[in-house]
Amino acid sequence: NTECNLLVLPGDGIGPEIIAQTLRVVSWFGEFLDVQIKTEHALVGGASIDACGYPMSDEVFSKAEAADAILFGAVGGPKWDDRPRSERPEMGILRLRKGLDLYANLRPAICFPELIGASALRPELVRGLDIMIVRESTAGVYFGEPRGISTDAQGARRAVDTQSYAEAEIARVCRLAFELARNRESRVCSVDKANVMETGALWRSVATEVGREYPDVELTHMYADNCAMQLLRGPNQFDVIVTDNLFGDILSDEAAALTGSLGLLPSATISAGRHDQRSHAVYEPIHGSAPDIAGMGIANPIATILSFAMCLRISMNEPAAAKLLEDAVRLALFNGNRTPDIAGPERDGISSDAMTDAILASLDALKVSKGN
Ligand code: NAD
Ligand code: IPM
Ligand code: MN
Repeated sequence: NTECNLLVLPGDGIGPEIIAQTLRVVSWFGEFLDVQIKTEHALVGGASIDACGYPMSDEVFSKAEAADAILFGAVGGPKWDDRPRSERPEMGILRLRKGLDLYANLRPAICFPELIGASALRPELVRGLDIMIVRESTAGVYFGEPRGISTDAQGARRAVDTQSYAEAEIARVCRLAFELARNRESRVCSVDKANVMETGALWRSVATEVGREYPDVELTHMYADNCAMQLLRGPNQFDVIVTDNLFGDILSDEAAALTGSLGLLPSATISAGRHDQRSHAVYEPIHGSAPDIAGMGIANPIATILSFAMCLRISMNEPAAAKLLEDAVRLALFNGNRTPDIAGPERDGISSDAMTDAILASLDALKVSKGN
């Protein structure tokens, strides 16, 4: 029997709603597995600002350092939008990524056959879609210095952000992408703006060098603007995409529209060590706090529930349990359960609670059918 200390950070908006649903699934696995899952809750983002003035307190950061895994909801909202950058809710997640050196954000985008009609694209374009976006998450323009807004003598303002990458920062995320590709279709597409940016040129040359260590994996390069277009024109050409922090953020939201909804895409943000080893890791949906639907009880919990599946596989080393959960999500969809974001125009859609009920019922059904 092993133990897993899971730090739960619900955050703001729909964050607490989707986390509450996911914790019902966590409890189910707590009973089903030989793993003792101990959960501890803490504040992050706007909720933490309201309580103590900071988006992530040192105390919560220490808990995150000590945890085996972190389940994160979402942060941010209009209430805190006018605060200076360093005091905004979003700093909560950025501090975790930087402080725990979570350099790779794995964002799988899969088109479930049950949801092919919910995709923004025609069925023939997304059938069988299975992409892994590997987004660098501790460097680039998110963290580069100098940055800030200054005012000149005439009172005119100027804003500066700095896009900066050290070759080691590029190499380690590329290496991880190649490792992941070996368990998939062995194809990596590295995405940059090498035609315009110095960081892009370095990115491409480091990706090429790392690629030589993986002669069995095909490496291609693509400019980010073309990639944004190719994702809509023929997304099935991609296997693993590796890219920088900002491009990865944008391209993964785009990929979500291919699968049907932002409410479907999970992610794992992991630190050094191989992807299948225990290390620091944050499991979080790729979407945000969705202020437009917060409090309505209709947020799609699937992105967060599938993030917990990634936790089962990566942090808890329970691949069969992860597969069981992914199968249960698909069975719930197969049985016609749809929150409004994936219901289409003709149907009303069900609540977050009812969607989770359906996933739990599917878990029970699959558990029995597998004779567990
Ligand atoms: P968002 O991802 O919150 O929402 C974009 C759209 O997708 C909205 O229409 C929303 O209703 C919908 N959506 C998102 N998740 C959904 C779900 N689970 N079910 C159904 N529909 C869903 O992005 P935004 O509106 O640009 O940002 C809102 C706030 O969230 C901002 O403060 C932003 O900074 C923050 N944000 C946080 C994170 C994070 O915590 N990791 C990620 C992205 C955005
Ligand atoms: C995400 C979000 C974050 C990002 C924000 C909230 C800092 O958009 O997790 O994708 O830009 O990385
Ligand atoms: Mn984002």
